[in-house]
Amino acid sequence: MVSERLTHLFKINLLVICFGQAGAKVPAIIVFGDSTVDAGNNNYYPTIVRSNFAPYGRDFEGGKPTGRFTNGRLATDFYSEAFGIKPFIPAYLDPAYSIKDFATGVTFASAGTGFDNVTSNLGNVVPFWKQLEYFKEYRKRLTNYLGRNKANELIREALYITSIGTNDFILNYFVIPIRSSQFTVDEYQNFLLGILDKFVYDIYRLGARKIAVGGLPPIGCLPLIRTTNFKAGSACREEFNNLAREFSDKTIVLCAKWNLALRGIRVVVSNLLDVPLQVIRNPHLYGFDSVAVGCCGTGTIELSYLCKETSPFTCKDANKYVFFDAVHPSEKLYRIVADHLMKTTLSEFL
Ligand SMILES: *[C@@H]1O[C@H](CO)[C@@H](O)[C@H](O)[C@H]1NC(C)=O
Repeated sequence: MVSERLTHLFKINLLVICFGQAGAKVPAIIVFGDSTVDAGNNNYYPTIVRSNFAPYGRDFEGGKPTGRFTNGRLATDFYSEAFGIKPFIPAYLDPAYSIKDFATGVTFASAGTGFDNVTSNLGNVVPFWKQLEYFKEYRKRLTNYLGRNKANELIREALYITSIGTNDFILNYFVIPIRSSQFTVDEYQNFLLGILDKFVYDIYRLGARKIAVGGLPPIGCLPLIRTTNFKAGSACREEFNNLAREFSDKTIVLCAKWNLALRGIRVVVSNLLDVPLQVIRNPHLYGFDSVAVGCCGTGTIELSYLCKETSPFTCKDANKYVFFDAVHPSEKLYRIVADHLMKTTLSEFL
């Protein structure tokens, strides 16, 4: 009897080693990053980089301005729904939620932050390293709440998502001369990716196994960046889109390294560049009318508090706009990107 069972166990082990573990269902999504994935952490942090007022959130459940920098939900909210978990992912610092809520998904993200401490210091927002500290605290709270075994299993089976890096370039490197006097663009990219590399090793050591790292979006087509390109008729600035592509390509190289070096890990890179670019180049195919300016105000420079003023120019139907403010996508673009990634890159975690 005993030896029969051992043989059986041995066979199962071999199957696991040879073909990988049949992935358990994703029980939670755990998010790190900037305004593209912040659900309102900045409301509870001493910063002015906020969006918890109208017209932000006007298409969210109850028309609530949660602190998401868009009219409705974010791509990460749509992932959570697509994984059958819950319709949106709450912010870790929001006192309306408890560990019971966070046990099925949480975001530590902070609008205005970057990989680089210099970037997060500019707006006094949550630095990337501190998001990891919050995650460690979360892990302890989860252990108290679920018990060690269940908490460990949840940490192992959860999907970890990062979306960060744009601000390091558009708020920091190209605007203030600290980093640009120290690093070439290429060196700065490598500096940022060094921080990402360390982060992946850190969360792996803390138990993470399923990770989707975001590449950079088409930075050169953000309305605010187009506004600065008035000499070229407010066209996209291709040099910034090329930078985003280079950065994402370097991320893919790192990703291959992680998958080889870290036993049991599964990392993918979410392409956040090509689908938005396709939409921006053929907006009418997707039902958009407007792509060069955001919905809010004149759409050329307004974001955060500048978007607060009840501007007579703010659009009626944000679904016709690729961008909601001068930097951030509308809910509809987030939905298009999320639907695409759920069918492609993220489908293996389903
Ligand atoms: C950022 O700041 C934290 C806290 O001071 C520090 O531990 C970390 O090493 C810094 N990161 C970099 C890349 O300098």
